[in-house]
Amino acid sequence: MDIIKGTSADSRLWLHNCWYVAAWSNELTAENLYAIRITNKPVLVYRKHNGQLVAMADQCCHRHMPLSKGRREGDDIRCMYHGLKFNTVGRCIEVPTMKLQGDEVPPAFVVNTYPVAEKHDWIWVWMGEPEKADEALIPPTTGPDDPHWCMHKGHLDYQANYLMINDNLTDLGHIAYTHLNSFAGGRSDAYFNQPRVQKLDRGIRITRWNTDAPRRAYQRSQDSHFDQFMTYDFIVPGVLMMYQGMYTAGTAQASDFGPPPEDLDPDTASFTSQAVTPMTDGTSRYFFSWGPRMSEHQQNPQIVEGMWKLANKAFMEDKLTIEAQQLNVNLQTASPMVSITDDRGPTMFRRVLDTLIREELAS
Ligand code: FES
Ligand SMILES: [Fe+2]
Repeated sequence: MDIIKGTSADSRLWLHNCWYVAAWSNELTAENLYAIRITNKPVLVYRKHNGQLVAMADQCCHRHMPLSKGRREGDDIRCMYHGLKFNTVGRCIEVPTMKLQGDEVPPAFVVNTYPVAEKHDWIWVWMGEPEKADEALIPPTTGPDDPHWCMHKGHLDYQANYLMINDNLTDLGHIAYTHLNSFAGGRSDAYFNQPRVQKLDRGIRITRWNTDAPRRAYQRSQDSHFDQFMTYDFIVPGVLMMYQGMYTAGTAQASDFGPPPEDLDPDTASFTSQAVTPMTDGTSRYFFSWGPRMSEHQQNPQIVEGMWKLANKAFMEDKLTIEAQQLNVNLQTASPMVSITDDRGPTMFRRVLDTLIREELAS
């Protein structure tokens, strides 16, 4: 399987030395045992009583029962199948029946642990070699915990390989059609300008002006004509950080289709952070947030709800599209896919990922 064209389930299509989003910060309470699969591995994440995070294999070393179905005993976890107890570094510290006989726990009774970090309102787990886990590699996004923005957050689970979702998120061409009745406001013709796509070290940058974009219901101004500026970085394994601003019509031209002047106040601006996590070969979790500037929210508290309704409609449109596409891909009809101009983002991102995976395999 080749990552440039691969769209079927295939576990060779992911990077291991990489931070993966496991959860929104608030999905881990002080007490719960949070379970997720990441790159085909069951992972348990929880908070110790001092707030520090623990990530370990969600698989007891005895008969592979998920430890997330067990119980907390202080900061330790007891598997509730036969009672093995594990400390926060994954070491089995008690086997009830062996304890009765006065036997020591063998050193081989351990479960794997993973480097874990909390940043930008997300819990990140490093799935590769622990000594290579570098928090500087966590994409520098803005999360809902940033006081300058007022964002809602959520997630959707997909019956699809994560590369299909990455393709969708790096392709702005689909907005005019997949999102005709949501983001495109009923007007496919407002989205004809091609995006600029630029390669970054661990991802790509996409920038686009949509000139004469339709006004959205949540906008402050009653003018009907806007130039919409969108710019985002998309970083491995599939983390999106996007700024959007609605500017007075003519701004795109005046800015020569580059970034607008920094001191130019848009009618509305929003930020969205999103992340795609491959759970298994054929399932993925899509985390997303979106919202306006806090100052806009304070002037009009309805705005964030209007945006969230729109986003949920649009994200469901993506899910229906991608899952339907995946079902066809699974049939392996051997018909090749053809490429069009809109594919520059997906193709460039897959190349970046391919290079990193090849380097990882070679090292
Ligand atoms: S499977 Fe965990 S104690 Fe047996
Ligand atoms: Fe979409």
